[in-house]
Amino acid sequence: MASSTRRLDQLAASVSSSAAILGEYLESRNLPQPSVNVGGLAGYSGLPPDISTARRSLQESVLELAYLASGPQEYMIRYTTEYVGITALRWIYHFRIFEHVPLDGVVSYKELAKLAGQDERTLKRIVRRAILNRFFIEPRPGYIAHTSSTALLLKDSDVRDMVGLMIEEGFDSSTRYSEAYEKWGPSNSATETAFQLAFQTDLKYFDWLEQRPENLRRFGGMMKAHGTNESYSSENFVKVFNWSLIGEGKVVDIGGGLGHMSIAIAKEFPNIKFVVQDFPDTAKQGAERCSEELRDRISFEGYDFFNPQPVEGADIYMLKAVLHDHPDPDVEKIIRNTVTAMRPGSRILIIDGVLPEPGAMHPVEERAVRSLDLQMGMFFNAGERDPEQWCSVIANSDPRLKVKSINRVPGNVSSGIEVVFEP
Ligand SMILES: C[S@@+](CC[C@H](N)C(=O)[O-])C[C@H]1O[C@@H](n2cnc3c(N)ncnc32)[C@H](O)[C@@H]1O
Repeated sequence: MASSTRRLDQLAASVSSSAAILGEYLESRNLPQPSVNVGGLAGYSGLPPDISTARRSLQESVLELAYLASGPQEYMIRYTTEYVGITALRWIYHFRIFEHVPLDGVVSYKELAKLAGQDERTLKRIVRRAILNRFFIEPRPGYIAHTSSTALLLKDSDVRDMVGLMIEEGFDSSTRYSEAYEKWGPSNSATETAFQLAFQTDLKYFDWLEQRPENLRRFGGMMKAHGTNESYSSENFVKVFNWSLIGEGKVVDIGGGLGHMSIAIAKEFPNIKFVVQDFPDTAKQGAERCSEELRDRISFEGYDFFNPQPVEGADIYMLKAVLHDHPDPDVEKIIRNTVTAMRPGSRILIIDGVLPEPGAMHPVEERAVRSLDLQMGMFFNAGERDPEQWCSVIANSDPRLKVKSINRVPGNVSSGIEVVFEP
């Protein structure tokens, strides 16, 4: 049979073949099939590259198919009213509705409203809209149950933190982005952002977080949840650098949060030692959460990277998901503060998004890196950088620094930028 030239048919065929590849792989590994219901596959991790590619093409073909099946006008109506879906999820998060739905059964709206202490009619209109985004299901009229995603809200505090931060701090900031630009233009200041307008503060985002222990804790959970997603996974990021090069060396994980990246490297390279640096409260949390067997190799310390680096002569100074939070002048300060502690041959390893030429990355990953770029714009007037912008900000920081390689593992959103100190 001649292959169809109709785009709808091509996409449908691509969906069908990619879905078969993915489903057969899961079956061959005795893994559960993905399902909207509780009890399906929990998530994707460690997929071989060809299976990962099939999953990505499935996601992208489905999106284009939905676009074509909607037509441009209906597509725009649906797209521009999707904020309602966020509003519904935010209400569910805010009033902790998911906590009162059993994981292995159903609850009536009446009972749920009573348990959550909320108005039944409001609850029903919110949940029935959320159901259309696969948050909860109504298996029989008047009774609701968890889906695999709302079950995660209940079971996984890090995912809950990620959702909360995105739909509160993230969403509110996003609504003020145009106004912030109108007021300050393409500013290089981290105190002239959409975030400051949305939250009516003069503080930089991280200083604001420092004053709010619950928000700071939630930020740590959000980063941890990201670190377990295939595209942002710390385990995949380990592969951006040949760690065996440093033998029994020392890594300083600057702005390392709760230490997820150091932990992932430490598990694979048992001879490397780590110092994870962050704000004192975050460092304290990291130390408390660090497992017993890694404590002799990973230490946590409070350090503000706008001061000179106290740990001298380490092999690697790692900055993962740190520099994209800062406009160029601040990045230059952070790098200069690091150089003061480096010895010849020491490296800075930056792990961050590197903006691709349009179309050079798979669209699923390109969307993720461009979304991150805009998010960093909303919170910090910072963002991801393209290779040229990275090289220029590094050279402006200190001409003795040489960019040796930029390496991305396919499937990852971020790349490793290896910079050597050659005085
Ligand atoms: C986006 S998070 C990345 C955390 C970690 N590197 C990771 O990838 O999971 C940025 C981190 O930088 C820390 N940070 C922000 N400003 C800092 C400063 N002035 N000194 C030290 N750490 C800071 C934040 O507390 C946060 O943990």
